[in-house]
Amino acid sequence: MKLPVIPYPQQVRQLDGVYRLPEGGIHVTYRQDDTIAPEGYRLTVGAGILIAHADRAGKLNAERTLRQIVRHCAGREIPCCEIHDAPRCRHRGFMLDCVRHFFTVEEIKRMIDAMAMFKMNVFHWHLTDDQGWRIQIDRYPLLTEVGSKRPYSDFGRDYEPGEYGGVYTKDDVREIVAYCEERCVEVIPEIEFPGHATAILAAYPDLSCDGHPVQVSTRGGVHTNTICVSSEKTMEFVKNVLSEVVELFPGKRIHLGGDEAPKDHWMNCPHCQEYMKAHGLKNALELQCDFTNRVAEFLKQYGKTAIVWSDSIKGHNLSPEVTSQYWVGDIDLTAEHLNKGGRTIMSTCGTFYLDMSYGQTAVSTTYKGFETIPGVLPEREAGILGIETPLWTEFIQNFDRLAFQAFPRAAAAAERAWSPAELTDVEDFKARFKLLSADLAELGVVPAPEKLWDMSKPRRIWDALKYWHHAMTRDDIQKFIAQMKRERKEAEYEREN
Ligand code: ACM
Ligand code: ZN
Repeated sequence: MKLPVIPYPQQVRQLDGVYRLPEGGIHVTYRQDDTIAPEGYRLTVGAGILIAHADRAGKLNAERTLRQIVRHCAGREIPCCEIHDAPRCRHRGFMLDCVRHFFTVEEIKRMIDAMAMFKMNVFHWHLTDDQGWRIQIDRYPLLTEVGSKRPYSDFGRDYEPGEYGGVYTKDDVREIVAYCEERCVEVIPEIEFPGHATAILAAYPDLSCDGHPVQVSTRGGVHTNTICVSSEKTMEFVKNVLSEVVELFPGKRIHLGGDEAPKDHWMNCPHCQEYMKAHGLKNALELQCDFTNRVAEFLKQYGKTAIVWSDSIKGHNLSPEVTSQYWVGDIDLTAEHLNKGGRTIMSTCGTFYLDMSYGQTAVSTTYKGFETIPGVLPEREAGILGIETPLWTEFIQNFDRLAFQAFPRAAAAAERAWSPAELTDVEDFKARFKLLSADLAELGVVPAPEKLWDMSKPRRIWDALKYWHHAMTRDDIQKFIAQMKRERKEAEYEREN
């Protein structure tokens, strides 16, 4: 086995001899070296311990590596070595859905510590959706007074009686942001427009195309409640909300959602139809891109760039300044976006979604999952920023389940995003993870048991069937089929126009 380190460093050179851990604690000598890559470091274990780094993230990453070696090498001796390390990808993210289930500030901090242990450097915080609005916005108090609560929860076959809610105050947000800052983790808030907007419309129904009242949703799946993307009133709302959001998050990126936005209302809305004509937009997919471009342009004045889920690039007219996060669908669209100079984050759902059962997405699937995208010009490959592991929480009711779903797969993704591409031995990864899971346990983060990591094929099929049986009632299946039909119609419409 290699050194007990995850993600495994770029280069490890074993030197002769061992370093005996001194009784009184280790003394480390630090050296600033601007020739070292961002987030990278050089760690030398010899007569003493030397860490060279260019930036604070590099220093922290070196300490993370050293801590793993010191704690998990047998006895009180560690092999002398020289490690040269820097990340393969600059974006190594974890997304947590705090809408379908709410997690406390303390629980989020614990998860961030667990992720940072494996050198993940982005916390994508999913804060708004059909089932709740979770962030305080002073100008629109009903977003939280009305939009944060649902009367009960009814996800697939999970029924939870009783009102469910939760809000992060601005002070909570500042606390999380400061916690991440100390650990060199960027926080990307996700505020979903124009789809997944039921909670917005429950609070402010006049932001939709038809103004009909709706309730905060109690169910999962795709909802047709979108905001009107063409009215002045809606744009003013979006801008006002975002101007409070940008003040809270010092990072340079804001996620605008943009997934699963059915076009039904826009096709029947006189404002939207007029807007499309006036702006030469051929279809509703272009209309969505146009909306995203306008919001991204607004964010630019604050020095922020926008990220959207990859559904949002279907109109082909999304600005290359907007980053797309790929999760499902036609990968050629992502190649097209990259070739125009755009950027992408890879979150392929069958590989990196942590909410999938282990039967659907085995540890080895996640570990092998990061591949090049066909059709991307070599000079555009740098636009592939890295990997993110989303954790949607319809079926995750508590922190223990969160930890179970996340680990070891998040650590596998973290290694893929950091370590050399040639490192492909998943069994070696698992052996190192087993050692390091003691560090997670100290945080109260208990991974899934080893017997689930890579099950036999029949057990995987059984497990996947169990998952879908649990996730979908007959009604959900009908809605899912309707959504597929809708998407097929959209694709046909796009081809014909
Ligand atoms: C997504 O899973 N709807 C981005
Ligand atoms: Zn409209």
